Amino acid sequence: MALILGLESSCDETAAALVESDGTIRAHKLARQEEAHRPYGGVVPEIAARAHVEMLGPLVEAALEEAGVTLDQVDAIAATAGPGLIGGVMVGLVTGKALALAANKPLVAVNHLEGHALSPRLGDQSLEFPYLLLLVSGGHCQLLLVEGVSRYRRLATTIDDAAGEAFDKTAKLLGLGFPGGPAVEQAAMRGNPRAVPLPRPLVGSGEPHFSFAGLKSAVARAVNDYSAEDLAASFQQAVVDCLVDRTRRALTSVTVQPSALVVAGGVAANKAVRGALETLAAEHALRFVAPPLWLCTDNAAMIAWAGAERFAQGLTDPLDTPARARWPLDPDAEKVRGAGVKA
Ligand code: KG4
Ligand code: ZN
Repeated sequence: MALILGLESSCDETAAALVESDGTIRAHKLARQEEAHRPYGGVVPEIAARAHVEMLGPLVEAALEEAGVTLDQVDAIAATAGPGLIGGVMVGLVTGKALALAANKPLVAVNHLEGHALSPRLGDQSLEFPYLLLLVSGGHCQLLLVEGVSRYRRLATTIDDAAGEAFDKTAKLLGLGFPGGPAVEQAAMRGNPRAVPLPRPLVGSGEPHFSFAGLKSAVARAVNDYSAEDLAASFQQAVVDCLVDRTRRALTSVTVQPSALVVAGGVAANKAVRGALETLAAEHALRFVAPPLWLCTDNAAMIAWAGAERFAQGLTDPLDTPARARWPLDPDAEKVRGAGVKA
């Protein structure tokens, strides 16, 4: 059994966790920075990086204390090494390197996306490779065939905005505040999902990808004609329809039989999204797996877990490992139009 310390600092959550290789979560600590970024209506990279510097050390200490262990009892240190806001990534990675050096422990440099991609296996130990993963977060919207640790085949990605980004921009347009996804979900509960006619970009298209920019523009045009609740509900329904249609296309075109349909990333915390995907999986007689809500949004338990999965395979990294703003899970995937801006 190995005990892994995980560090996360790639966006606006600072987190430290201790996870064992059998999936036992010994401790997880997290500090949000919402208040610091709220006046700006979005994450300000420099404010985020400074907050990570202040928070990460105390969170590591608190996690060790909660688990009742010292750094000497940890087997490896896993830190997010990208992709993300580079200042924040550097804080977490350098902290991980310093701890590894001081305690003479191996470093595991974790791709944040691999943290999300493997998080369903932390929540559900019986989930086996390969599985079809819809990875929906603030920066990414991808369908991936997860063949194993470090083995990903990207089947689709967004040609413009990510799904979470669309939620955040819509929240801003509707004056619902920051962070946007949960605010839109709340407002949508009080609205009519059929009230506002909104487009479903690329639905029914022969190409496999996602697009959300046109949807956001349509919300902007309708903003004076409908209530925020009806707009939120109609927008959320449009996103759900796009995610389901694209995932259905992937399910019917993928050449190997996946063990399950899996959803991960911040948008996977949305109940309408989870419900619609669960129905889709049932239609295809497939198991549906979604991590518990707290494990969907950024956290360090998923980084420690990805670290544990990599460590078990002997995948450790040298102390000169770089921090990476962009780091695709499938480096062989072909570039799609408009995708130059996303990792
Ligand atoms: O995975 P995550 O915490 O950070 C990234 O790696 O991007 O995802 C954050 C994204 C944000 O865009 C946020 O608005 C969205 O996930 N999100 C949600 C919900 N909770 C978080 N979107 C829709 N409904 C939610 N309940
Ligand atoms: Zn994330």
